[in-house]
Amino acid sequence: MNQPFEHPVYNYRVVRQFTVMTVVWGIVGMLVGVLIAAQLVWPALNFDTPWLTFSRLRPLHTNAVIFAFGGSALFASSLYVVQRTCQARLISDSLASFVFWGWQLVIVLAAITLPLGITSSKEYAELEWPIDILITIVWVAYAIVFFGTITKRKTSHIYVANWFFAAFIITVAVLHVVNSAALPVSLVKSYSAYAGTTDAMVQWWYGHNAVGFFLTAGFLGIMYYFVPKQAGRPVYSYRLSIVHFWALIAIYIWAGPHHLHYTALPDWAQSLGMVMSLILLAPSWGGMINGMMTLSGAWDKLRTDPILRFLVVSLSFYGMSTFEGPMMAIKTVNALSHYTDWTIGHVHSGALGWVAMVSIGAIYHLLPIMFGKKRMYSVGLINVHFWMSTIGTVLYITSMWVNGILQGLMWRAYNNDGTLTYSFAEAVEASGPGYVVRLIGGLIFFLGMLVMAYNMWQTSRVNETESGENNLALAQPA
Ligand code: HEM
Ligand code: HEM
Repeated sequence: MNQPFEHPVYNYRVVRQFTVMTVVWGIVGMLVGVLIAAQLVWPALNFDTPWLTFSRLRPLHTNAVIFAFGGSALFASSLYVVQRTCQARLISDSLASFVFWGWQLVIVLAAITLPLGITSSKEYAELEWPIDILITIVWVAYAIVFFGTITKRKTSHIYVANWFFAAFIITVAVLHVVNSAALPVSLVKSYSAYAGTTDAMVQWWYGHNAVGFFLTAGFLGIMYYFVPKQAGRPVYSYRLSIVHFWALIAIYIWAGPHHLHYTALPDWAQSLGMVMSLILLAPSWGGMINGMMTLSGAWDKLRTDPILRFLVVSLSFYGMSTFEGPMMAIKTVNALSHYTDWTIGHVHSGALGWVAMVSIGAIYHLLPIMFGKKRMYSVGLINVHFWMSTIGTVLYITSMWVNGILQGLMWRAYNNDGTLTYSFAEAVEASGPGYVVRLIGGLIFFLGMLVMAYNMWQTSRVNETESGENNLALAQPA
């Protein structure tokens, strides 16, 4: 392999580290996803081993894909974008290095503690208090690096992508600190500072805004930089991007109660969550349209550029999941969808279709730059990966829609005498084919990540002249 490429002005080292780890953690997290999907088809795959049970591996999957894979993509892209758009090197190389190694430590600790059954049991916030404290320290360091770099910028304005990254950094900090407040009783056990319904509300205020700010705002930051860059066009409307930003962050924060419909939460709070979710459609689609329309006059590039395809298809899935979400937030719809695989389908249309595909597109854009190469080793393989991701996502989400509606309808069917038509086990049995299709879809998506890893590896080591294929016009200026 050649010597790592160093940029004369910018700190590319930390960006390169996070870029490579995005691919590595993507593979690990999705492999666990494939395993738990297989367990839902063949339960015996837990081998009667406690740390291989579905209940322990499921949070390992969610933590790995959201925080390790998604997190690394966000760190890589935000630390790259802030330098490029501010025309300034990161404020501190050593602090940036601390962020990288600190985050890897968090991930390793999660990978050890979750299979051991050490958990706070709060969804997406399962890690116990010592790891929570470590997360807080690393996050503060990240905020200092990001905002510090903005303060030394050489440009007069702050590009809109940085606004989204900034909102993501600040809000995730607040969510994490408030939701993780707990009373430790030992090194590996703590109790939430909140009780009963309050605990549930705080948890889903956190949970929904983890979606809104971790899985959405940060990735919109990625969209606002990488879509115009890859398309070679300015963002469609700068004004719309500002309206999009303020509308999105102002509304998202109120929508959490839609996770608690028909619970002990006061009815007015549930209705507020529902209405805010419906309103959320508007800014979400405003952002999607802004991204899509950026391709005006450059649509032909989709024929030759699979990286752009990743980015544009991710926006379509973003549009789909942000249409579906508000529908599922309507109480009567939620009465059918809640607890069913429909939710799982919705999650992965956002997670695979939007989060993973926009990240993959951005990482393909970054990889050659980070290795000091003009282009990726093989555009053909990016194309293969694109189709694997798209087909995998479609199989995953369609099978879960079918399962979800099937389950919802079976559970609510009753006979004339008031007894249930189907037992729960019958609904599980009927879901079997859907689980097989989901497993196939997930496996295809996962194998696509292996193709990416191979392409990355070859890009890092091959000399330009040896490059296997002609890579068309995909060269990215460093
Ligand atoms: C190869 C790809 C993937 C496969 C096979 C997969 C599979 C699964 C399975 C089987 C579950 C458990 C479903 C259940 O409890 O019934 C799950 C849950 C989940 N996955 Fe994935 N997954 C994949 C990729 C991802 C990615 C990339 C993300 C995020 C960026 C993600 C986020 C989630 C979340 C948030 C949940 C929990 C959903 C909920 O509680 O409603 N997954 N996944
Ligand atoms: C306008 C935007 C959106 C709205 C209003 C929305 C609404 C909803 C609703 C109503 C649920 C079901 C709650 C339940 O029955 O328990 C849900 C679940 C979920 N959504 Fe969305 N959604 C939106 C966008 C997204 C996006 C873009 C993603 C991912 C990137 C996402 C990820 C999730 C996750 C992970 C869950 C499962 C939470 C859990 O129970 O563990 N959502 N969403």
